[in-house]
Amino acid sequence: MRKFTNRCIDRNIFPNFIVSTDLTQHINNEDIKSDFLKVKEKDKGINVTNALGWHSIVQTEDPDSPHLSEAITLTKEFVNEFLEEEGTNLHVNTLHYWLMENGAGAFNVVHNHGKVDLIGVYYIEVPPTSEGMTLLRTDAFTHTAFCNPNVPARYQNSFTIDAIVGRVYIMPGHLYHYVKPFDGEGDRRSLIFNITCSLN
Ligand SMILES: [Fe+2]
Repeated sequence: MRKFTNRCIDRNIFPNFIVSTDLTQHINNEDIKSDFLKVKEKDKGINVTNALGWHSIVQTEDPDSPHLSEAITLTKEFVNEFLEEEGTNLHVNTLHYWLMENGAGAFNVVHNHGKVDLIGVYYIEVPPTSEGMTLLRTDAFTHTAFCNPNVPARYQNSFTIDAIVGRVYIMPGHLYHYVKPFDGEGDRRSLIFNITCSLN
C-alpha cells in the first residue's frame, strides 16, 4: 500500500514519440520493392551517413516510380492524420525521401537529419538478423540515474525500432540515430523521409 498520495502529476511532459502504421493495408510492398530496384539500376548513389551499402539521391518526387510515389502520398496522409488527432496545429509542408540498401556489414553512423520536424522510415525488406534503427535520447535526462537498462522505456536513453516490413515509422526530427550492421544473407531495404511541417 502506498504511503503518499498524488505522486505523479503527469508522466507525459516533454515527450518524444514514435508513431507507426502498416501501409500494406493500402499498397503492395512488392510493388514498392519493384520501383526500388528500378531506381537502384540507374542511381549510382551518394555517400552520406552510410558506411558501405547504397544511399540514393534525395528527391521529392519521381514520376517513373508510381508505387514509391503512392507510398509517399500515403505517408503524408498518415502524418497529417496524426498531427490532427494529436491536437497540433501543424500539417506536412515538405517531404523529401531517399532509398537505402544495406547488405551484411553495412551500417549507418550516428547522425541526425538537421533542420527537419519529423523523420521517418518505411521498411521494404528486413533480413532476419537485421535490427531496425536505434533512436538516441537527446535531452539531459540521459545524464541522470534514471537511465539504465532496467527501467521502463520512457526513462531509457535509446529505443530500437522493431523493424517490420510494410510499416512506416515516424518520429521527431531532432533525434540522433544509427543502424547497426548485421551478419547474414539478404539486404535491408528502406525508404527514408525528411518532413517539415507548417502551421495550419
Ligand atoms: Fe538518418
